[in-house]
Amino acid sequence: MDTITTLNELRGATAALRKTGSLALVPTMGALHEGHLTLVREARRLADHVAVSIFVNPRQFGANEDLDAYPRQLARDSELLDKEGVALLWAPPPSEVYPEGYATNISVAGVSDGLCGADRPGHFDGVATVVCKLFNQVRPDMAFFGEKDWQQLAVIRRMARDLDLTSPHVDAIYGVPIIREADGLAMSSRNAYLSTQQRSIAAVLPHAMHETIARLSRGEAAKAVLADLARRLIDSGFDTVDYAELRHGDNLVPATVAAPGTRLFVAARIGGTRLIDNMAVD
Ligand code: PAJ
Repeated sequence: MDTITTLNELRGATAALRKTGSLALVPTMGALHEGHLTLVREARRLADHVAVSIFVNPRQFGANEDLDAYPRQLARDSELLDKEGVALLWAPPPSEVYPEGYATNISVAGVSDGLCGADRPGHFDGVATVVCKLFNQVRPDMAFFGEKDWQQLAVIRRMARDLDLTSPHVDAIYGVPIIREADGLAMSSRNAYLSTQQRSIAAVLPHAMHETIARLSRGEAAKAVLADLARRLIDSGFDTVDYAELRHGDNLVPATVAAPGTRLFVAARIGGTRLIDNMAVD
């Protein structure tokens, strides 16, 4: 695996790979876990070559968020990716992505509003901006994202359609289902922040979401069921529930009743750690 840190080197390396087949991109911020590696395996299955980016993108972190604390473990990540047969690791320093004088922002209206967009102002602008840049830098034929960050995937799909990124550079944006721990908690680099006690509280989230979905599927009114879910999380030791909402999966428009295509979206905090999850409500 080639590890590349400058745009100059990247151009040559990606051009060489594209000469001998299709190229997939898996964008990440590192601290890799099985969720990330599942995206890599799916990319390997569908493309001839896989490039993974590791870049802790400062523009998608709010002023009071965990940019400095975010786990950085490039040597370990690099070993994992090498074992997965990744051809190229793109790990630029911030100055290579945002050089002196950088002034451009990409903002995707609609799907960025509400849910995480409401709790983290500017977050999805930061995500859209860096993902657009990564697409332009690597010029992949396809790119892979996790359904763990469902709203992020919706923002990227919308941007790719709106800015004509899907052709000729990125033909396909694939969403990969959420990978979970044995007790159901969605894998996340941020789970590493949890103490043993907090980790057991966190496991309540997916269980409570399944119970909520069972009630919604029986036809109970969303408003009361979602209020019960928030209360259950607080009673179990969560400090705050940022949102617990039912929305249409494709356009993220709020839904009042469970129907095919609707999803349950939750964000809740334990101490300083914010956990998100989403599940289909069919
Ligand atoms: P990061 O949180 O590192 O996640 C990288 C990719 O892995 C994202 O597409 C995310 O949805 C996916 N992922 C994370 N946990 C997952 C899980 N448990 N199951 C399935 N997929 C999972 O998301 C980002 O980085 C950044 O916002 C990025 C897109 C790289 C832009 O900076």
